[in-house]
Amino acid sequence: MTTPKNIAIIMDGNGRWAEKRNKSRSAGHKEGVKTLKKIVKAAANFKVESLTVYAFSTENWKRPKTEVDFLLTLMKRTISNEIEELLDRGVKIKFLGRKENLSKNLIEEFNYIEEKSAENKNLTLNIAFNYGGRAEIIDAAKKIAADYKNNQLELDNLQENDFSSYLYSQDLKNVELVIRTGGDLRLSNFLLWQSAYAELYFTEKFWPDFNEDDLKNAIEDFKNRERRFGGLKDGDANA
Ligand code: IPE
Ligand code: IPE
Ligand code: MG
Repeated sequence: MTTPKNIAIIMDGNGRWAEKRNKSRSAGHKEGVKTLKKIVKAAANFKVESLTVYAFSTENWKRPKTEVDFLLTLMKRTISNEIEELLDRGVKIKFLGRKENLSKNLIEEFNYIEEKSAENKNLTLNIAFNYGGRAEIIDAAKKIAADYKNNQLELDNLQENDFSSYLYSQDLKNVELVIRTGGDLRLSNFLLWQSAYAELYFTEKFWPDFNEDDLKNAIEDFKNRERRFGGLKDGDANA
């Protein structure tokens, strides 16, 4: 199989990485940003077309206010620090998530970088922030209901592809490979619709320790998987 074009990463383990070193959880999140920068570059080099990263979930609001505030500020700071380099390297950035509950400042930052990078073609970087897979599906269902009410949609003809077009990112139809760092074996509400047939790859490594070689290993592992999509494997057509 070829390199997956559409990869998603659950960047988990920042807190435990920090704890192990007697550092604050914030220090772990900061280190996580450094990893993200490296992995975005590596993904572009590996000719990945779309990389979706889980940066803040709709459930992460349950954390102590100090940590939540730190994560919100870190996101905003990271965008403004990295925007020039990302634009230079032709990265197209998209925000995936609910805008409600986010500050006006942060939303403006996301809008600005989305607009500025809209025509870029090298790699699409989707940043899932205040993102939940169930929230995304509910938001789509609400938009569908509104269109139906306004006679802009016929329900009898609604296909999977049409439903996809109501999700946060229309381009992100099928994720091929989901990587989760940090050792837990779950999706934690990430891309529930788009991962229906994704290959899953889990590593014990904490996100701040994840590097280019680890990404390469995940891609190599993917290449050796046999994807069947409910059918039979190649060559079994006459079974
Ligand atoms: C992932 O690292 C980053 C976010 C969820 C924002 P964690 O903060 O979940 O780190 P652990 O899982 O506690 O180690
Ligand atoms: C998933 O990690 C969310 C992000 C990486 C942003 P969590 O640490 O929030 O997931 P759980 O709570 O362990 O499932
Ligand atoms: Mg975690």
